[in-house]
Amino acid sequence: IPVDPFDLVIFGGTGDLARRKILPGLYRRFWDGQMPPEARIIGAARSEMDEASYRAFVRDAVTEFVSKRKCDSELLDQFIERLSYVAVDARGEDGWEQLAGMMRDGVVKAYYFSVGPSLFGDIAERLHRFKIADDDARIVVEKPFGHNLETARALNATLARHFDETQIYRIDHYLGKETVQNLMAVRFGNMLFEPLWNAQYVDHIQITVAETVGVGGRGDYYDRSGAMRDMVQNHLMQLLCLTAMEPPSKFDPDAVRDEKLKVIRALEPVEPHDIVRGQYRSKDESYLVDVENKDSLTESFVAMKVHIANWRWNGTPFYLRTGKRMKERVSEIVVRFKEPPHSIFEEDTGQSANELTIRLQPNEGMDLTVTIKEPGPGGMRLIDVPLDMTFAEALGEEAADVPDAYERLIMDVIRGNQTLFMRGDEVEAAWAWTDPIINGWEAREDKPKPYEPGSTGPEEALILLHKDERRWRELR
Ligand code: BG6
Repeated sequence: IPVDPFDLVIFGGTGDLARRKILPGLYRRFWDGQMPPEARIIGAARSEMDEASYRAFVRDAVTEFVSKRKCDSELLDQFIERLSYVAVDARGEDGWEQLAGMMRDGVVKAYYFSVGPSLFGDIAERLHRFKIADDDARIVVEKPFGHNLETARALNATLARHFDETQIYRIDHYLGKETVQNLMAVRFGNMLFEPLWNAQYVDHIQITVAETVGVGGRGDYYDRSGAMRDMVQNHLMQLLCLTAMEPPSKFDPDAVRDEKLKVIRALEPVEPHDIVRGQYRSKDESYLVDVENKDSLTESFVAMKVHIANWRWNGTPFYLRTGKRMKERVSEIVVRFKEPPHSIFEEDTGQSANELTIRLQPNEGMDLTVTIKEPGPGGMRLIDVPLDMTFAEALGEEAADVPDAYERLIMDVIRGNQTLFMRGDEVEAAWAWTDPIINGWEAREDKPKPYEPGSTGPEEALILLHKDERRWRELR
């Protein structure tokens, strides 16, 4: 279904995120017929560039990041015609009148701030002063949304001076991933899971976001952030919220976000012995070299045990882990159910607990292990078999060719649907929980434990679960 016609301005329109994600994503939506032919995209950045050069830049980006099958088409020419460019000085006066003159009446106006947070205030103020944004305009802001609670509050206050909360779309691209939304469909669209989704039946939950890449060319940013700020405060917290929240009364932005906020507010402070920080390091490859800071105490890995102090989850721990340069790239949520209270079978028949795995990437899908009798005449031997629902297999390759998180979220902005975006109070509550943990490390000059690149993280992370007689689901 096509969205309404729009004018989308991308500040940072020549940047890496625009090149890799935003522009290719918009093209895929155009290719699919969701972006209407009347829509326009205006790249805005500091450098002087004419329209033809910007269009050539976008054509290259689309050709590089969109599958060839979709680029071999005159649709790409039509898409390119939807593009314009304006040079603006975010801290000065240049370019803003021109941008104001380019915006059309009667279409949805959206402004994507694909720039560092230090420019959010300057751009918001100019959009207002030059009357570029009307009361219905939407702004989209990228993470990191602040560095701690204080800076996040200041950013919220700056944006609130010029825009209402209903106009602000804070992106956490994990919320745009297909399986994340499926998590809500599974929980609240079936009768099978929700009655068991609590401390009485769930032994524990694991949330893993493991990456094989290192810090790449972002060493400077990353070394000031670390895994806690870069991944836990946002992506892992969001996954935790969607897994743990109460059923919202409807699938509407505030109903969903109210429930997520309650989860964050119910998180108990984490004790130092329930958290492990790591840094990848070997003879050949080291985090310290990658970030060009030989004294860095920043973590590239975190594992932690988290408790939610409410009726539903009292006594069921959530184990979170995330890291760079790990063995496997995988993002998944594992719900480990309790063992049956009494076994009618003889000991060591192989009976074990059910496990529901919700895989965000790769091979998006779900599987549920169930215990059955091993076929054959060998007596009552039990085995676990997976009820595998890999979407590509279950729905066919085409249906599983799901939109990238960014393109889905941008379309939601145009539709005016904030459900999959973070509200200001949610972001602040997440920082209020992570700040004391990070401040504690800084005060103690806590040293991250070394781990071998390409491994499962420091040994201490394994011990964190062993102490509780549990094990991480294996990385392959
Ligand atoms: C970003 C982090 O938000 O998410 C990166 O800043 C990380 O450090 C990335 O690599 C992971 O996203 P995805 O979609 O590749 O899992």
